[in-house]
Amino acid sequence: MAQPTPQTMEPHRAQWKTQWGFLLAAVGSAIGLGSIWRFAYVCYENGGGAYLIPYFVALVTAGVPLMILEYGIGHQMRGSAPMSFAKLSPHWEWLGWWTVTFVMFGIVLYYAVVIAWCVCYLWFSLSLAWGADPNAFFFQQFLGVTAGPQVIGDIRSPILLALVIVWAANWLIVFFGVEHGIEKANKIFMPLLMILILVLVGWTLTLPGSMDGMLRYLKPDFSRLTDPKVWVDAYSQIFFTLSLGFGIMVAYASYLPKKADLHRDAWVTSLVDTAVSLVAGLAVFGTLGYMAAQTGKPFEQVVQHGIGLAFVAYPQAISLLPHLQQAFGVVFFLTLTVAGIASSISILEAFCAAVMDKFHYPRKTVVTVLSVVGFLGGIVFATGGGLSWLDIVDHFLSHYGLFLACILQCVLVGWVYGAHRLREHVNAVSATPVGKWLLDVPIRYLIPAVLAYLLISDVIKDIREPYGGYPWMALLLIGRDWLVVTLLAALIIAMRPWRKPLK
Ligand code: PFF
Repeated sequence: MAQPTPQTMEPHRAQWKTQWGFLLAAVGSAIGLGSIWRFAYVCYENGGGAYLIPYFVALVTAGVPLMILEYGIGHQMRGSAPMSFAKLSPHWEWLGWWTVTFVMFGIVLYYAVVIAWCVCYLWFSLSLAWGADPNAFFFQQFLGVTAGPQVIGDIRSPILLALVIVWAANWLIVFFGVEHGIEKANKIFMPLLMILILVLVGWTLTLPGSMDGMLRYLKPDFSRLTDPKVWVDAYSQIFFTLSLGFGIMVAYASYLPKKADLHRDAWVTSLVDTAVSLVAGLAVFGTLGYMAAQTGKPFEQVVQHGIGLAFVAYPQAISLLPHLQQAFGVVFFLTLTVAGIASSISILEAFCAAVMDKFHYPRKTVVTVLSVVGFLGGIVFATGGGLSWLDIVDHFLSHYGLFLACILQCVLVGWVYGAHRLREHVNAVSATPVGKWLLDVPIRYLIPAVLAYLLISDVIKDIREPYGGYPWMALLLIGRDWLVVTLLAALIIAMRPWRKPLK
């Protein structure tokens, strides 16, 4: 009798209705807040158009190989990250759990709060509620920022309310499953997102001074390429923006049919995310160029990054517009909200898939419990001290956590399981074969080396001076312990037996 293969063991696994549906969902996860407000600034700061060289080098040598790895193991093992890792080697199940746990009970908790800010600002746009001083409005009136992480302050009720909306949306989409929830939502979200971004760029182009901003964004300064920081920034951007090391792409690929062009899909996902980041950057820098022209300030002074860009600089620019200010604000914050939700549902699904694989609980129960816990866990970031908590947790999780998880994933697949075995599977289903140089070499040597470098330089920097100037105690108790607690939880879950034996 034929041996049951992993494929025949779970005949009822959900599946994408179409290949397109899968691609849109993967792209939806990749394009997020990170792509829209981070890419442009990092590009500008690191040599403009010249930064595209290290960016593409990082994409080809780390992004695409890791994406092929995640698609490959998810597809071959037909499981979420914990199940796929356990099938690769029973001793490594914990790594799958740790990844999905610190992302679900860490990164997404504060990511959802930032989406909630966008929802609030969508509303504020209607009345230009930030008034003449968007900086004071954001930090004092809206966030009610306290003296530091040790002073929690009060819960900000508008943020809390918006957080309910964000989690309700996450819940509703994932509740209906892979085909009827996630695939359907992304089939609406992704075209909508592209339209919104194109509207923003087109609109921005009509504003005086915008061209100057766009040119500054892309003007190449090749001399910057000799600075190692530029390369470090390119590599660290690639992992986050492509949602690698989150356990997301593993789960999404596990819902693909047997015939799936994994090699092509990895390229398509990475290149579409890059194209969208680049184009969104035009809108961002165009608006900054307009603001510089209107205020007469030097360009360098109006440029801001991250939350300062979205919640201070943009509102300022919106107020300066000659007409249709409200509509411009709505388009911008809707873009961020849609991009954010398409990303947050992907990790909700990644964790949900992991629990369903292991314990066979019904999807609807798992999603409901996770959404409620996700909301409750996010409340701490919706307080006056929330911004510093967010900053600390983000630093530890999206640097130490993700870097370490990606290194270990490469060790597991590259060395323990064997990169060539994964490559054989990918090549058996892809139209064009993947060579050693695109998979084995990066996974076994290059990616672990680059990530180890990033990790060690972070450790050295953090030891020299405490991150963000926060008290050591706060950094250790909030940041480090967040990682430790999620690791312990992962170890405990990994020790529980599978409802159905794996092999
Ligand atoms: N690729 C996403 C971004 O660039 O924003 C990263 C992400 C964050 C994915 C949070 C999923 C998630 F839940």
